[in-house]
Amino acid sequence: MSNSNVLISISFLFFLISVASSSSFNATTHKCSLRQTLDLLLFKQNLSSINFSFDKSPYYSPCQDWLGSDYYPIMMNWNKNTDCCKWSGVTCNHYTGDVISIDLSCGMLQGTLHRNTSLFRLPHLQTLNLAYNDLTDSQLPRDFSNRLTHLNISQCGFTGSNSWEILLLPKLVSLDLSWNYGLHMQPDVLKNLLQNSSHLSELLMPQIHIGWVLPTFLNLSSSLKSLDLSYTDLQGKLLDNIFDLQYLEKLDLSANFDLTGPLPNVNTSLNIPLKRLDLSNCGLVGSLPKSLANLRHLTSLDLSYNNLTGILPSFLFTLPFLEDIILGSNTFSGGLPSTLFNHRSLKRLSLGRNQFNGKINGGSSQPSFIQLVNLTYLSLSWNNFTGLWDLDTLLSSLPNLEELHLSNTGLSVVTNNGSSSYVNPNFRRLGLAFCKLTLFPESLRTMKNLTYLDLSNNDIHGRIPDWAGKIGENGLYYLDLSYNSITGLPQFQWDGMEYLNLQSNQIQGSFPPSICNMSRLLLLDISNNSFRGVIPQCLGNINSFLQFLHLQSNQIQGQFPTSVCNMRNLVSLDVSDNSISGVIPQCLGNIISSLWMIDMGNNSFHGIIPDVYEDCGELEGLILNGNQLQGEVPSSLSNCQSLMVLDLGNNNIKGTFPHWLGDLPKLQALVLKSNKFHGPIETPSSKENTFPSMRVLDLSHNWFAGHLPQKYLKSFNAMKNVVKNSTTPTYLSMGGMYYSVTTAVKGRDLEFPKISVDYVIVVLSNNRFEGEIPGIIGCLVSLKVLDLSHNSLTGKIPSVLGNLLEIESLDLSWNQLTGEIPQSLAHLTFIGFLNLSQNHLVGRIPSGRQFSTFEASSFGWNPELCGLPLPTKCERRQETQLEIDGDGDGDGESGFTWRVVILGYGCGTLLGLVMGYVMLSTGRPKWFNAIADAGEHMIRTRHKKRRYVYIGK
Ligand SMILES: *[C@@H]1O[C@H](CO)[C@@H](O)[C@H](O)[C@H]1NC(C)=O
Ligand SMILES: *[C@@H]1O[C@H](CO)[C@@H](O)[C@H](O)[C@H]1NC(C)=O
Ligand SMILES: *[C@@H]1O[C@H](CO)[C@@H](O)[C@H](O)[C@H]1NC(C)=O
Ligand SMILES: *[C@@H]1O[C@H](CO)[C@@H](O)[C@H](O)[C@H]1NC(C)=O
Ligand SMILES: *[C@@H]1O[C@H](CO)[C@@H](O)[C@H](O)[C@H]1NC(C)=O
Repeated sequence: MSNSNVLISISFLFFLISVASSSSFNATTHKCSLRQTLDLLLFKQNLSSINFSFDKSPYYSPCQDWLGSDYYPIMMNWNKNTDCCKWSGVTCNHYTGDVISIDLSCGMLQGTLHRNTSLFRLPHLQTLNLAYNDLTDSQLPRDFSNRLTHLNISQCGFTGSNSWEILLLPKLVSLDLSWNYGLHMQPDVLKNLLQNSSHLSELLMPQIHIGWVLPTFLNLSSSLKSLDLSYTDLQGKLLDNIFDLQYLEKLDLSANFDLTGPLPNVNTSLNIPLKRLDLSNCGLVGSLPKSLANLRHLTSLDLSYNNLTGILPSFLFTLPFLEDIILGSNTFSGGLPSTLFNHRSLKRLSLGRNQFNGKINGGSSQPSFIQLVNLTYLSLSWNNFTGLWDLDTLLSSLPNLEELHLSNTGLSVVTNNGSSSYVNPNFRRLGLAFCKLTLFPESLRTMKNLTYLDLSNNDIHGRIPDWAGKIGENGLYYLDLSYNSITGLPQFQWDGMEYLNLQSNQIQGSFPPSICNMSRLLLLDISNNSFRGVIPQCLGNINSFLQFLHLQSNQIQGQFPTSVCNMRNLVSLDVSDNSISGVIPQCLGNIISSLWMIDMGNNSFHGIIPDVYEDCGELEGLILNGNQLQGEVPSSLSNCQSLMVLDLGNNNIKGTFPHWLGDLPKLQALVLKSNKFHGPIETPSSKENTFPSMRVLDLSHNWFAGHLPQKYLKSFNAMKNVVKNSTTPTYLSMGGMYYSVTTAVKGRDLEFPKISVDYVIVVLSNNRFEGEIPGIIGCLVSLKVLDLSHNSLTGKIPSVLGNLLEIESLDLSWNQLTGEIPQSLAHLTFIGFLNLSQNHLVGRIPSGRQFSTFEASSFGWNPELCGLPLPTKCERRQETQLEIDGDGDGDGESGFTWRVVILGYGCGTLLGLVMGYVMLSTGRPKWFNAIADAGEHMIRTRHKKRRYVYIGK
């Protein structure tokens, strides 16, 4: 506290005392003592509610969501003239006037409580609730009233780890420390708390950092009824005696991702009162133990998001009170036990994202679930069932159903769209993706309270009926109709929409103007349709929360609206493949700091690329390919340290090679093809390790000149030892979207809708490069495509190109290369395309398994080349030259030479050396694939803000 603050505090105290001793203070009617009044007013004085910035996001209001109440400046009526017992949130003992309870939850308190805060000292205080206030960096106080029975400081911003001994309050019944991320609890503190608080019945500490192995002494606290240690970073194996707590009714250890092991056996000699068990989002493995059947009082079981295996045991459905069974996102398998369908008290059943299979029809298309009349929630999505279900029968048989998820179950869902059958008017969420639906279900008509609808990836044809525009009224916030054959939309309002995905249909018409009213929109994807007209200027004026704006592949025209620059949360902007014209607005700089991905490719943008990348630390991809952009590459791009993809191909950009991009540590793809770049590609001499992540480089069709950029080629570390992930292919992505590239492969332009990170490409063709092919290229052993054609390269083909064991396409045509074709090339196993034509190569074409598949055109227009597949026969003179390959130390048979080894060393990687050696000694690097599979740092999409998981293109 600064001196002036101390002064203010002291003078305030004097003021209070003078006020209190004056006649205006009516001690006879004020039950509250002077001491208490002062303590409370001091507490108030240190806080304010003026700047209280509760989360203004419309998506999350903890007070609304958890307490159902609103924020309210609760201390507003605390003043000296009224009895403190009448202040909001304060309760006194009726007879003595002692303050016994304070509830300031959601009270818009703002400030920092220090360790000697007066409030906690009130001697008769029993209950204190400060939940959901902004008390950032507050510390738990030194002194507590030792009568305290209930303390709730959830979501207040308390921090610290050393003042926990004061929690040894003899009468404590309930302690709620939830969601104070900065609080750390040491093992002995929790141990003391559990051992010494003989009345403690409720202990809630989610999101407190504990971070160590769950204490084995847990069973010592016998009075505990409710224990919540979720999100506390607990480690180690789940305790064997976890279910033995005598009074425990509610146990939540969820979201401790390092809490592992199998579910322990339940002690069958005890009567265990446990009712609610939540072990979701841990690392549990194994199957459900049979002794679980001894948890006779269980009403709710949540084991979702673990690695549990085995079948769904039938004993689960004999537990008499069990109502909620949540087992989604595990690897359970097998069929569903028939006892399930007799357990008629079941309310919530989640089996989604497992590997269940088998037929689950009752009769014909009668879903077996229709007997479970009390079901409110049913999820079977992402399994492998078979059968045909009638949606209308299901909905009308389950009058309490509010949520149904059948996406990608394997089931076919039919709807007869006859006379509309009964649907629970409170039905809220419906997921029917990949259900082979052919009709837009009529049952939706009566779902006035629908909030979530996913009908994506079905076979719905034609126009969506007009009545559908009213589905859910303004409550509908999630609508996914993507990947159908829908041709037209109804009029809709849906002002509360957050996620609107209409991509990949055949929708015609102009951009729906009502989208401009969706003030909470986070994702808008209308890509791959036939929307026409202009993007309305109103877009962006109200949709300032938008994170994903995907309008690509339509027939949109006109200028790009500057209102997009108002979307300060935008992370992904894709307007590619339209006919948008005009300039790229300079104001994009206003929102560049949040953007992960910009794709404006294949439009008619002209003018210069705005130089607005000062603050673009998150930008992973910038694609402006296929426009008429001019000027130079903006130099502020050097600030984009996250940039992975820069594609400026097919424009009119000029200037020399933008060497400053070499410092971008993550740049994986650089495409500058078909522009007007010129001059030699030179590395600034001081620079080492430029372009360390480069995997796709296309500089073709420019006027680059001079030698091939040897120094750059040397530093392409990512091309030297790409470690392959053979199980799940990883594709080059930026901002959660796959990067699609068109590049010259196998002699023609090939489009890759997505490109594997293993697919390493260097295309330098159609420039004015001269001089020899540097041997260093032989170090880029992960190359799949190398195209140096249409240049003026001279000298021999380096035999080290035989090192490129992964290569599939090699084009050296239209140069002035001389000498023989190195024998080493004949051993490249994967090579499917070779073009050495239009050079001055001589001698016999090497023979080899792959080489024999090439046609004459691969070698044509080299007047002195002979042997198959060319018609020219070789003469003796030409034969003899062949044995010597490279420097004469040739191992003609394997194609690998000592020179390879030496060059391997020159590659600067141990791998190069070792591989050269092993190839030399064994001829075939069998173990290569073994190290190649050892794993790699994957590109992961980050989830910083609330975002919809979104990958695709
Ligand atoms: C104190 O309270 C009594 C009883 O309500 C009232 O008659 C009296 O006027 C009050 N005195 C003052 C100074 O407010
Ligand atoms: C659980 O499964 C996931 C995905 O298959 C795997 O990454 C993880 O290592 C597994 N965890 C354990 C504890 O087996
Ligand atoms: C369904 O729930 C109601 C209300 O909770 C209950 O009275 C009824 O017995 C339940 N039905 C079945 C079949 O369990
Ligand atoms: C799903 O089940 C079918 C047989 O019904 C089987 O052929 C298929 O491999 C299974 N798919 C998966 C992903 O398990
Ligand atoms: C929709 O839900 C609200 C409460 O969430 C309820 O009051 C209302 O009756 C429901 N609408 C219908 C048509 O049932």
